[in-house]
Amino acid sequence: MAAASRHGLDLTLDHWDLGADRFLRDGVTITDEERDRLIDEYDAALLGALGDPRVPGNEHTRDILLGLRFGADLYINFRPCKLLVPSLSPLRNPHPDTDVVFFRENTEGLYVGVGGSFKRGTPDEVATEQSVNTWKGVDRIVRAAFEYAAATGRGRVTLVDKANVLLHEGGLWRRVFAEVGAAHPDISGDAMYVDAMAMDLVRRPERYEVVVTSNLFGDILSDLAAQVTGGLGLAPSGNLNPGSWALFEPVHGSAPDIAGDGIANPLAAVGCVSLAFGHLGMEEVAADVDDCIVASIREGITTPDLGGSATTRSVGEWMAGRLRE
Ligand code: IPM
Ligand code: MG
Repeated sequence: MAAASRHGLDLTLDHWDLGADRFLRDGVTITDEERDRLIDEYDAALLGALGDPRVPGNEHTRDILLGLRFGADLYINFRPCKLLVPSLSPLRNPHPDTDVVFFRENTEGLYVGVGGSFKRGTPDEVATEQSVNTWKGVDRIVRAAFEYAAATGRGRVTLVDKANVLLHEGGLWRRVFAEVGAAHPDISGDAMYVDAMAMDLVRRPERYEVVVTSNLFGDILSDLAAQVTGGLGLAPSGNLNPGSWALFEPVHGSAPDIAGDGIANPLAAVGCVSLAFGHLGMEEVAADVDDCIVASIREGITTPDLGGSATTRSVGEWMAGRLRE
């Protein structure tokens, strides 16, 4: 709100309680009516981290996070991993220009829940999980990655897959990638196998600019790249469908071991606020929020996980004060 009022924006912020307490009280995660209203009446939503040991079935993940990704067809999981402060990287000599943006496919792949099990609980148990890839689904995420590269002056898009073994989905992704890439002759397109990519993201992450990949590979590699560029405490993400509704969430979970202590690192959530402003076309506001993140780290106004002694609330108050100056 401080960033918005600094720019004279008339922003309405509503708080929705969709947390574990409500579920334990009413047995409800989100109703169909709430889901429709959230998507129809708002431009975007900022989702807090999910996961509470009192809800071992992870109903919130299923109904809210995955439910909204699939229900609102948010096919882009946009995950920027930029090295803001080199000392936060576990790498010995991190390259200062490390800045890789993931376009993780968000509505298909191994996340669709197609499969089943049989002879459960016996030594003969069989479990299958199928990866679903459609031309339409692959085409739109690959297109989004190239269009983002073109719009932001990035010269390379890297496809990550396992086309040497997963021949069917790999073949589809490679053919789509070649076709879309041909329409962008100024952008170089290359492909990496996911195992080699895991290694290379540690070895020379600065080589990568835009990465496009499937749901599961994107899930895994975006955690890896987030750690290389400063840790999950800093990693924001956007679930997008351009021109439509969007859902922003920190990449990290809920850190139940410190629940209630008031020391959860808020920077990834603040990073989501920046992504949300950017998504809504308010680039200057987004830049101010990004400045706050870097300043808080540089000035040591951070929670204990980043070496500071601030609380979650005091980091936020410090940022709001800075934005009001
Ligand atoms: C993420 C998370 C989710 C995912 C979980 C909570 C289902 O790890 O947003 O990366 O796998 O997509
Ligand atoms: Mg994840």
